[in-house]
Amino acid sequence: MIRVALIGAGAIADTHIEAFLKFKARCEIVGLVDIYPDKADEKIRHYDLIAQAYATHSQLLNDARFDLGVICAPPFTHAPTAIALLNAGKHVLVEKPMATSLAECDQMLAAARANNRLLSVVAQNRYRTPMMKLKHIVDASVIGKIVHAQVDSFWWRGNNYYNLWWRGTWEKEGGGCTLNHAVHQIDLFHWIVGMPQSLQAVVANVAHENSEVEDFSTAVLFYTDGKIGQVTASLLHHGEPQQFVIQGERATVGVPWCVRAMCQRENGFPDDNLALEKEIQTQYDTLPALEHELHAGQIDNVLAAIEGSAPLMNDGQAGRNTIELVTAIYASGFSGKRIELPLTPENPFYTREGTLKHAPHFQEKTKSVENFASGRIIIGSANDQSK
Ligand SMILES: NC(=O)c1ccc[n+]([C@@H]2O[C@H](COP(=O)([O-])OP(=O)(O)OC[C@H]3O[C@@H](n4cnc5c(N)ncnc54)[C@H](O)[C@@H]3O)[C@@H](O)[C@H]2O)c1
Repeated sequence: MIRVALIGAGAIADTHIEAFLKFKARCEIVGLVDIYPDKADEKIRHYDLIAQAYATHSQLLNDARFDLGVICAPPFTHAPTAIALLNAGKHVLVEKPMATSLAECDQMLAAARANNRLLSVVAQNRYRTPMMKLKHIVDASVIGKIVHAQVDSFWWRGNNYYNLWWRGTWEKEGGGCTLNHAVHQIDLFHWIVGMPQSLQAVVANVAHENSEVEDFSTAVLFYTDGKIGQVTASLLHHGEPQQFVIQGERATVGVPWCVRAMCQRENGFPDDNLALEKEIQTQYDTLPALEHELHAGQIDNVLAAIEGSAPLMNDGQAGRNTIELVTAIYASGFSGKRIELPLTPENPFYTREGTLKHAPHFQEKTKSVENFASGRIIIGSANDQSK
């Protein structure tokens, strides 16, 4: 039986608790930490857990016996909390974003290695049946060499969103929609398409006045084999029409699921390649559906990795790749320059201190609330087309 403790008893903690409760035969939640311990108590009552509430992760480490720490607190706490848990010999599942800087990611990876513990970063969108099928189809090379891949991480958030105390600041949220919203699609992007050699980006705050950080970014990614990527993050898009589309030399596939294939006429104009479309569609239809989706899918994998029955799918290196791409987008957007990857520690945005020094305040945060009256949030986009 794997003993689990959660650090952070806010909005996303509900999703984790509900997912862990699906695997009651394999795990139990024994502790909940929140700097407002009544929030931890309230969740223990609500879910009828046999667990203890704590005000700090140090108290948890002193008092509780557990195997897996799950970090559901704000981004600026992720690295120090994860490192403390790993050094105490616990496995760690940390919510996205992995951390607020690449330097912190490297320290977390070093702590995981030094203590021989598992470090997983939440990227629950891999665990959607259409996304898993897309990955299989691209890996099988049936679409041919990838020539272009595009992710539209389009979200909509009202101005009030940034009233929560830790949001909208470089110090506590670590960034805007590129880091905290597109993080999901950027994970999918490097998982399926790979890491680029360089990128050029634009980063802006167009419409969120109570926030230092960006509400829009767009980046063009350049790969060694010539393919081009495009990643756009936005909090401005009503209806949140998200898509991930991959153009291969032979066919296009994407999520929301689509398949199109063309072949050339004698003059180079296109004809439909219905036979190839049918072949890819049949492959898609034949692939099995996932048993557990989203957070439950990832938690199932983390439990299996601890049990020793499966490799860890979302490891710390994957979380770091995401932060590296986000950091490169900031470095390019703020300097106007094309940025080469991999980033080195000399990059001004490699450390949290560097980001705090060099990132512009698009606006100043003037309003702040400790908690919203209603804690419930929407996981995924409101108009979720990726199911
Ligand atoms: N995977 C997803 O789809 C998804 C969705 C929403 C949020 N998140 C991530 O989850 C994390 C939390 O977001 P949220 O929306 O639940 O925020 P929240 O503010 O609702 O909850 C965070 C909780 O952590 C507590 N907290 C703050 N500092 C703490 C500390 N040092 N130790 C213990 N508890 C502490 C706060 O009091 C609060 O109750 C963020 O990293 C966020 O990006 C992920």
